[in-house]
Amino acid sequence: MTDTPIPPPQNLCGKTAIVTGSSRGIGAGIAVGLARRGASVIINYVSPKSKGTAEGVLQSIRNNGGSALLIQADISSIEGIQHLVEESVKFSLSKKIDIVVHNAAFGDDCYLEDITPEFYYKQTNTNLKGPIFLTQAILPHLPSHGGRIVLVSSISARMAFASQTVYAATKAGCEALCRCWAAALGKKYGATVNCVNPGPVATEMYWESDPEFLKSMESIIDATPAAPRVGEVADIVPLVAFLCSEESHWTTGSVLNANGGMLLI
Ligand SMILES: NC(=O)c1ccc[n+]([C@@H]2O[C@H](COP(=O)([O-])OP(=O)(O)OC[C@H]3O[C@@H](n4cnc5c(N)ncnc54)[C@H](OP(=O)(O)O)[C@@H]3O)[C@@H](O)[C@H]2O)c1
Repeated sequence: MTDTPIPPPQNLCGKTAIVTGSSRGIGAGIAVGLARRGASVIINYVSPKSKGTAEGVLQSIRNNGGSALLIQADISSIEGIQHLVEESVKFSLSKKIDIVVHNAAFGDDCYLEDITPEFYYKQTNTNLKGPIFLTQAILPHLPSHGGRIVLVSSISARMAFASQTVYAATKAGCEALCRCWAAALGKKYGATVNCVNPGPVATEMYWESDPEFLKSMESIIDATPAAPRVGEVADIVPLVAFLCSEESHWTTGSVLNANGGMLLI
C-alpha cells in the first residue's frame, strides 16, 4: 500500500491572496501552499528572466485545480504597486484582497565601506517602501473583518552580520511595521499583521550570499536547536499559511520564528 499525502485543510477558500516575489524560492512555496488551502493567489515577479519560472508556479497551481493569476510588477515603485493592486482586484471574485504576504526582497550583501546610494535605495525601496505602499494601497480593498498581512523578516533583523547593514535594517524595519500595523489596522480594518522570521533557507538568495557570510553561517547552522541543517521552503510555508488563516485571529503584531530556534544560540 502506498502512502497518499494528506491534503492540507481547505481553510482559505474564497480568499484572494497577493504573494509578492513568488516566482521562486520561499514566495513560490507560499503561493502554492496558500492555493492548496483554497485561496486564489496572485503570483508576482519583476525580472523578465523569471517569466518562465513564474509561469511554472502558475501552471502547477492550475494543474492541481487551484486558481491563480500572474502579474509582473516592480513592488519597489509606486506604479508597480498600483498595477499589482488594480489587476489583483479585477481578478478577485469578491473584489476584496483578503491576504497580502510581503515576501519579495532584494537580499544582496554589502559591506558598509561599499554601500552606494543606488544600493541603499534599491534595497530599502524593495524591502520597506514596497511593503509600506502596497499595504496602503490595499486598505480600501480589505474585507471588513479577517484581513491578513504577513511580512517575511529574517534572523538578520536580530543577529549581527558584517555584510548586511542595509538588509538587516530593512528586516528589522519589517518587524517594526508589523507591530505598528497590528495596532493601526486591528480595530479600524479588522486585520491581523504578523511576521515570520526565517533563518537560512535553501533558495537562490541564500546560496548567492557573500562567501564570507556563508562561511560564518556554518557553525551557527551546526548549532541550530531544531536540527543542524539549512531550512527548506517547506519549513516556512505552514507557518505563513497559519498566519493567513482564521485560526490565527488572536495572533497579531507577533514575530513567529521560522528558523529552528537559531535566535536562541
Ligand atoms: N533564503 C534565505 O535564506 C532567507 C532567510 C531569511 C529571510 N529570507 C527572506 O525570505 C524572502 C524570500 O527570500 P528567497 O530566498 O525566496 O528570495 P529569492 O529566491 O531571491 O526570490 C526573491 C523573489 O522576490 C522577487 N522580487 C525581488 N525584487 C522584486 C521587486 N522589486 N518586485 C517584485 N518582486 C521582486 C523576485 O522576483 P524575480 O524572480 O522576478 O527576480 C523573486 O520572486 C525575502 O523576504 C528574504 O529576505 C530569506
